[in-house]
Amino acid sequence: MNILHVCANPKSTEESVSKQLAARFFGKLMELNPDVELNNVDLYQDKPPYYSNDLYRRMWMPVFDETYEPSKAEEAAAHYATKQAELFKTADVLVLTMPMWNFSAPAVMKAWMDQILAPGLVFELTGDGPKPLHNITTMVLLVASGGIYKEDDERDALTRQVRSAFGFIDISDLRIAWADGQNPLFFNDGEIRREMAFEAAEDLAEELAEESQE
Ligand SMILES: Cc1cc2nc3c(=O)[nH]c(=O)nc-3n(C[C@H](O)[C@H](O)[C@H](O)COP(=O)(O)O)c2cc1C
Repeated sequence: MNILHVCANPKSTEESVSKQLAARFFGKLMELNPDVELNNVDLYQDKPPYYSNDLYRRMWMPVFDETYEPSKAEEAAAHYATKQAELFKTADVLVLTMPMWNFSAPAVMKAWMDQILAPGLVFELTGDGPKPLHNITTMVLLVASGGIYKEDDERDALTRQVRSAFGFIDISDLRIAWADGQNPLFFNDGEIRREMAFEAAEDLAEELAEESQE
């Protein structure tokens, strides 16, 4: 099993519930399957640039104009996306770790998605719609939120966005461990909820380890 783990959280693991979920998930997975190959991308160490017109042209002009030749600036603008797409293409499992911010994903995670989800990188556009250029079949989402709600609650724009964006490139098997109610000002059972989410993360790791041995 080859995993790409993309983490969007500026906090240390001690301070971050979502990073603790990731620690529990990978701890269990490595214990059960030491052969896992893991690539970690910390989006606060390796920050994605915001989308630019040069990047737009480099990624999309080949779709519209077969005579297109990129300029030097357009080639340079694609550097981050190309590097990340190479990692993406070596993986069969994608793990995303993040907090919920303003009912959605942190901006660096959205910026990373904007970089890699491009034609010619992780999908190609055919007359029949997008065709995947990757081998990822399963996605794991490790999330923490202050409020009490989980996926598909009407306030949750995070899983909806992730499900739609990666569903577009044929990754529809999305598994989630979510520690909600982590704001101690509003809720006094955050610790219980956190423990339940840690167990859910370990269960997901067990599932994946079992499936990798089938
Ligand atoms: C900028 C910001 C925005 C936030 N927005 C939300 C929100 O929309 N909904 C929510 O439930 N919690 C929100 N929170 C609370 C965090 O999701 C919560 O503290 C969570 O535990 C953070 O995960 P972490 O411990 O891994 O950093 C927000 C926190 C910050 C800093």
